Amino acid sequence: MTITIKQRHPALGAEVSGIDMRLPLEPATVQAVMDAWMKHLVLVFPNQRVSDAEHVVFTRHFGEPEIFHQTSLHLRSDRVREIFLVSNVDETGRLMTPAEPSQKQLSSSRQWHTDSSYRPMPSVGSLLHGIEISRTGGITQFINMYMVYDDLPDSLRRQVEGRKARHDFSMLSRLVGSPPPTPAEQAAMPPVWHPMVRRHPVTGRKSLYISSIYNDAIEGMEETVARRLVEELTEFAAQPKYMYRHVWEPHDVLMWDNRCTVHAVTPHDPMERRGMHRTTIVGREPVTAG
Ligand SMILES: [Fe+2]
Repeated sequence: MTITIKQRHPALGAEVSGIDMRLPLEPATVQAVMDAWMKHLVLVFPNQRVSDAEHVVFTRHFGEPEIFHQTSLHLRSDRVREIFLVSNVDETGRLMTPAEPSQKQLSSSRQWHTDSSYRPMPSVGSLLHGIEISRTGGITQFINMYMVYDDLPDSLRRQVEGRKARHDFSMLSRLVGSPPPTPAEQAAMPPVWHPMVRRHPVTGRKSLYISSIYNDAIEGMEETVARRLVEELTEFAAQPKYMYRHVWEPHDVLMWDNRCTVHAVTPHDPMERRGMHRTTIVGREPVTAG
C-alpha cells in the first residue's frame, strides 16, 4: 500500500489517502501512518466505511482501546464496548433531545479539552468515525499545543512552568448540569494532577496541557484565579494560526493525538442527526513534565 499525505493546515492536520481501514496493514504502512501522525498531529482518512469491529481492529495498531468507565449515561456502545458514542442518535436510531442527560454531558465537548485527561495515564489519541454528519455545524476544531507552548507570552509561561493542574471527570456534571457520576464511577476515576507543561514521549517536544472541562484546580492557586488562568490560556490557544477546523464528510475517520492537541466541536441544529463513533487509545505512561 502506498500512502499519500496532504497537509490541510500549516499548524496541524493532514489528509491520508491510499489506506483502506478494512484491510490488514503491513507493518511499514503502520509505521508510515505513525510518522505522519507524529508530524501532523491530526490525520484525516476520507471515505472509510468501517464497521465498529473494523474501527477497533485498526485502532489496535496504535495501542489498546479504552473501555469508557461510565455506563450510567449510555455513551458507551452496548454492542462494541470499545466504542464511545459521540452522537445525538442512540443505538436504536432514535434522535435524542439536548435535554437528555447523555446529550447534556456531550455538550461539554464544545469547550476545549483533550480526551480522558482525567485518567492517571491519559489517552494517547482518539479515532472518530463520522457516520451521520452534520451540515449546520458540528465542525471539529483542533489546536496544536506545541506551537501554543512555544509562543506563550512570558506572563502566562511563568504561571504554568513547573505547575500541576487537577483533572476531574466529575467536573463535567457541574459544568453542564448533567447527572453526576454514580459513587462507583466516581471511585473508579478520582481526580488526578498532571503537569501543565508536558513532554511528548515520542517527539520529545513540550506542549501546554490544559482542559476547560476537567481542570478544576491548579497547584498553589485559589479556585477563581485558577479558572481564570485556564480561560486566559485557552483564549490565547484558540487563534486561527494554531487551529485546524475539520468540516466533516460522511465516513471520514479522524485520528488525533491527545497529548499535544486540544479539540472542541461547534454547535449544530439539534434536529439534525449526528452519529459518530470513537475509539480512544489508552495511555501507557504518566504525563512527563516538560
Ligand atoms: Fe473530545
